[in-house]
Amino acid sequence: MCPHDALIAKVVRNYGEPAFYRIDTAPARALNNFVKAVLIETYVPMGARVLDLACGKGGDIGKYARRRIRSWCGVDVVGASVKEAMSRYNRGARYEFAAQFFVHDLSATEFVCPDTVDCVSCQFAVHYFF
Ligand SMILES: C[S@@+](CC[C@H](N)C(=O)[O-])C[C@H]1O[C@@H](n2cnc3c(N)ncnc32)[C@H](O)[C@@H]1O
Repeated sequence: MCPHDALIAKVVRNYGEPAFYRIDTAPARALNNFVKAVLIETYVPMGARVLDLACGKGGDIGKYARRRIRSWCGVDVVGASVKEAMSRYNRGARYEFAAQFFVHDLSATEFVCPDTVDCVSCQFAVHYFF
């Protein structure tokens, strides 16, 4: 297996399976979510069309909803995470914006977003692409 494929396999194992951490990550996640909420509140224009690169399980969808976004497009390499993002979005059908979901390795090939967007976000993931 080439180094790139080995890295992707590790990412899929890490994020695609139930958490194996023995340490309590809740405080770190709370801080991360606070920082992301402030960033989104500050920089995402109301009514924007958003492309969320390495969206994970869609944990930021609710934060974007508060900006009354027009659409959200999520992309991640881990299929299980994208599936979780999809069910998060569909749960209760409370989101008024349209959403699209893609499984794609952003470090391997170009991702061509099907629609025009106003805002591109990549949270806690750029380090995977080098
Ligand atoms: C720390 S998580 C961040 C998830 C989300 N952005 C958030 O803030 O909740 C990193 C994410 O990067 C994704 N990722 C890592 N390498 C990737 C790649 N080559 N292409 C697409 N997604 C990738 C992982 O699957 C994981 O969902």
